Amino acid sequence: MEVVIQPDAGAIATLVADEIERLLAARPDAVLGLATGSSPLAIYDELVRRHEAGRISFARARAFMLDEYVGLPDAHPERYRNVIDREIAGRVDFAPGAVQGPDGNAEDLVGACAAYEQAIADAGGVDLQILGIGTDGHIAFNEPGSSLGSRTRIKTLTSQTRLDNARFFDDDVDAVPVHCVTQGLATIMSARHLVLVATGSAKAEAVHHLVEGSVSAMWPATIMQHHPRATVLVDPAAASRL
Ligand code: GLP
Repeated sequence: MEVVIQPDAGAIATLVADEIERLLAARPDAVLGLATGSSPLAIYDELVRRHEAGRISFARARAFMLDEYVGLPDAHPERYRNVIDREIAGRVDFAPGAVQGPDGNAEDLVGACAAYEQAIADAGGVDLQILGIGTDGHIAFNEPGSSLGSRTRIKTLTSQTRLDNARFFDDDVDAVPVHCVTQGLATIMSARHLVLVATGSAKAEAVHHLVEGSVSAMWPATIMQHHPRATVLVDPAAASRL
């Protein structure tokens, strides 16, 4: 695992955008893995800037989202599908249907999870997966205790994650869904390059476990220690316990 400490989120975003620009120049039909949360926002803004400057095209690329809440109305602004459309997919030139996410409102959620795994496999797998990390060490919505061999499935959110995410729901923790569908840890590990970004002191403990802790389902991100190509980009505050 390569750990890169950068002065701030802007510098991190530049490095990740460089990597994505290189990937898309070499393989315009590459498959990207997109994450929600605040951590990747600077990356998305940088990708949009480069797209507008004519440096990057997503026209032949595809993308898969990591996770989705269960039960939010289709038009809800915090539904991850809508977040991804707003923050990146709708701001660049992805072809219609090229960005897919797990369906959190399917009648048959178990079937929808299996279909999502198949869609990723049919696309040839993810080339570069962007990741954030939860304060409790979760990646996507793989909460502590998640099986290290898990695939896309339904999960229950922890109270900590619901509290952390209440800020997106007018600070009303009761409005945060209780369930989600998420790529599993084994699904994420199948991506060819993992790029995790974390900033701020609230992430310091999780980053400490990620980089220096034992691999354990109690700190799910630690599975990345087994990945042949994992890059962790952090600012000094997130790196403060390394
Ligand atoms: C959510 C998402 C994760 C994200 C995490 C951290 O729970 N499901 O994919 O990494 O929160 O979010 P943030 O980047 O806002 O700190």
